[in-house]
Amino acid sequence: ARRGSGRTRRAVGRRALALQGPEARSAELTWSGLTPGKEYTLQTQCLEVAENTRTIRSLDWQRDRFDIEFALTNGTTYNAYTIKGATHTALIDASHKKFEALFMDALESPEGGAVDLGTLDYIVVSHTEPDHSGLIEDLLVKARERGNEKLTVVGTKICINFLKDLIHMDFKAQVVKGGDQIDLGGGHVLDFVVAPNLHWPDTMFTYDNKTQLLYTCDAFGMHYCSDNVTDAEGVQALEPHYKLYYNCLMRPNARSVLSALKKVGESCGDVSAIATGHGPVLVESKDEWMGKYKSWSEDATTKLGPSVCVFWVSRHGDSERFAQSFAYGLTNQDVLVEMHDLNAVDAFEVVEACQRNKVIVIFAPPMGENAAQTNVGSILASCNPKDHKLVICASGGADDEPVDSLVSRCVQQTGIPEGLPAIRCGGGSEEKTLAMFEASGLQLAKDLQSKKKQAAKDKLDQKTTEALGKMGSGRYIVTGRKGEINSAAVATWVMPASSDPPSVAVSVAKDHPLSSLTQLGDTFVLNMLEEGNYLDLMKHFQRDLRPSDDVFEGVDVAEVAAGEAAGISVVGCSAFLLCRVFSRMDAGDHVLVVGEALTGAVVREAPTAANYRKSA
Ligand code: FEO
Repeated sequence: ARRGSGRTRRAVGRRALALQGPEARSAELTWSGLTPGKEYTLQTQCLEVAENTRTIRSLDWQRDRFDIEFALTNGTTYNAYTIKGATHTALIDASHKKFEALFMDALESPEGGAVDLGTLDYIVVSHTEPDHSGLIEDLLVKARERGNEKLTVVGTKICINFLKDLIHMDFKAQVVKGGDQIDLGGGHVLDFVVAPNLHWPDTMFTYDNKTQLLYTCDAFGMHYCSDNVTDAEGVQALEPHYKLYYNCLMRPNARSVLSALKKVGESCGDVSAIATGHGPVLVESKDEWMGKYKSWSEDATTKLGPSVCVFWVSRHGDSERFAQSFAYGLTNQDVLVEMHDLNAVDAFEVVEACQRNKVIVIFAPPMGENAAQTNVGSILASCNPKDHKLVICASGGADDEPVDSLVSRCVQQTGIPEGLPAIRCGGGSEEKTLAMFEASGLQLAKDLQSKKKQAAKDKLDQKTTEALGKMGSGRYIVTGRKGEINSAAVATWVMPASSDPPSVAVSVAKDHPLSSLTQLGDTFVLNMLEEGNYLDLMKHFQRDLRPSDDVFEGVDVAEVAAGEAAGISVVGCSAFLLCRVFSRMDAGDHVLVVGEALTGAVVREAPTAANYRKSA
C-alpha cells in the first residue's frame, strides 16, 4: 500500500482537534459484489484527528445503495478510531469485511495509530452491524495469534450477546452501561452512553474526557465520501445527505434520538466534535448538526394522530430493511412511528409500546421457541380488537413463521382487525420488494390520516372553498423512475418556475410513491395531456393500485434521455419534458418539486387539457 501522501490538513481552530498531521492514503483496490457488473473503488485514509487519536476511514467511493437508501450519490465511509492513552490503547469500531487487508494495514501504520494487535487492550463496539463490526472476529484471531490474551471487547449487554452469536470463538468481553468508565491513562477516560435503537437495540456512544470527542457510530452519520475528513464542505452541501440518512434510519426512532441527546447533555462534558461512523467528523457546524437532530426529532414526535409501532427481527432474513422501508413510508407522511427489535425488546416495553400505539406491525419471527416468538405472545396479550389494528409482514427469512400462520394466530383467533392486508415478499427483486414495503407504509399512512385531512377540508367555509376552486391549471401525467422502480401520477398543480435554468414546479402528494422518486438529483417526465383527448389516460393513472402493481401495464410508453438522465414518456400525450430535480420545498401534505428541463418535444400540436376544480 502507498502511504504518506504528505498532504497536510489545516488546523480548524478547535482545541481538541488536531487535523494537522500528514494524511495517509492506501492504494486503491477494486471490489465487486453489490450491483452486478459494477466495480467499486476501496481505499483507506488515516489522519490524526485529536491528541493521541487517529481516524481510519474506509472509503467506499462508489457505493450506490445502502440498506434502503438507493441511489447514493457520494458513496459512503466506515470510520474507525484509535486512541492511545498513557497506559492502554483502544480501537473504536472497525470496518466492513471487504476492507480487511486495507484496514489491517492501516491499523498498524503510523498514521492509523501504529496499533500492535499483540498489545491492543480494547475494541469498543458501538453497534454490531457488519459495516462496523465485520472485522471484529479477524482482529480477535490475529490478536490471539500474537499471544494477546487481554484484548477485551467492550459493548452494551445486547451488543455482546449479538457478538457471541456472530463470532465463532470465545473472547474476553466487558459489558458497559451508562455511568461506567474505562481509563486509558493520560486523561483519556472513556464514558459510555447507552443509546438503544439508533438504529439497533445494541447501540451506544463513547465520550473521551481528554479530547471531548463523542463517538456515535451510525447516529449523526451520513453516506458521504469525499477527501474531507470533517464537515468543512458546509451545511448547505451536506444537509441533503444528512437529512436523507436521518429520515431513513433515525426518524422512526425519534423518541430514542431525543433520549440519547438528553443523556449526552447530562452525562458528558463539552463535545468538541462528533466522531461518526459514516461520513465526515462533525466539527465545523457541530452544534447546528446536533440541533437539527433535536428539532427534527421533536417535530417527528409531536405530530397528532394515530401512531404505529413496528416490531422487526434483527439478523433474520431482510426483516430490518423491510421494516425500515415500511417505516420510511409512514414517517414520510408525518405518522409517528417507533421501532423495536423482537429479539431484544422486553415484555414491559412491549406492553408500553402497545399502549402508546394504534397500529402494531409484526414482522414474522423465525419458527420455534425463541425470544422473538415470546414477544409476539406479549404483543397479542397487550392488544385488543377495540383499540388496535395489526399488520402482519413477511421477514424474508428461510425459517420465517409463515404469514398465513401468523394471520391465523394474531388476527383470526384474537379478533384484532388488520390495518392492511398481510404483506408478503412477492418474489420480485430486492429493490422492488423494498419499494413495495415503502408503498405499503404510505398506504397505511393515508388510511390513518384520512380523517385528519377531511377535518382540515371541513374547516373551510363554503365561500373560501369556491374561491379556491376558481384557480385554473392544466392536466399532466408525471412519471418517475429509479432503477427498477416506476411510478406515475396525474398532476394538475404544475407551472413554469424559472427561465434560467428553464424549469417547472410540480406539486407531488407526500403519500404518493412518486414522492420517493423525485428526490434531489432524480429525474421525472412531465407529460402534457391533450384537451378533449385525455380521459382514458387520466383514468388509467388514477386507478387504485396495489403496492406491487406495475403502473405502466396497459399503456404505451417510451424511454426519453438526455445524457445520463432518462425517464418515461407516455404515448398519447401531446408533449413532454424530461426534468432533473434541483429543489424541493415542503408544502403541507404535498411537496413542491422543481426540476430543470433537460430535453423535451411537442409530439402533436394541440392545447394542453385545462383543469378547473369545482372546489378546494
Ligand atoms: Fe452503519 Fe447500522 O450500520
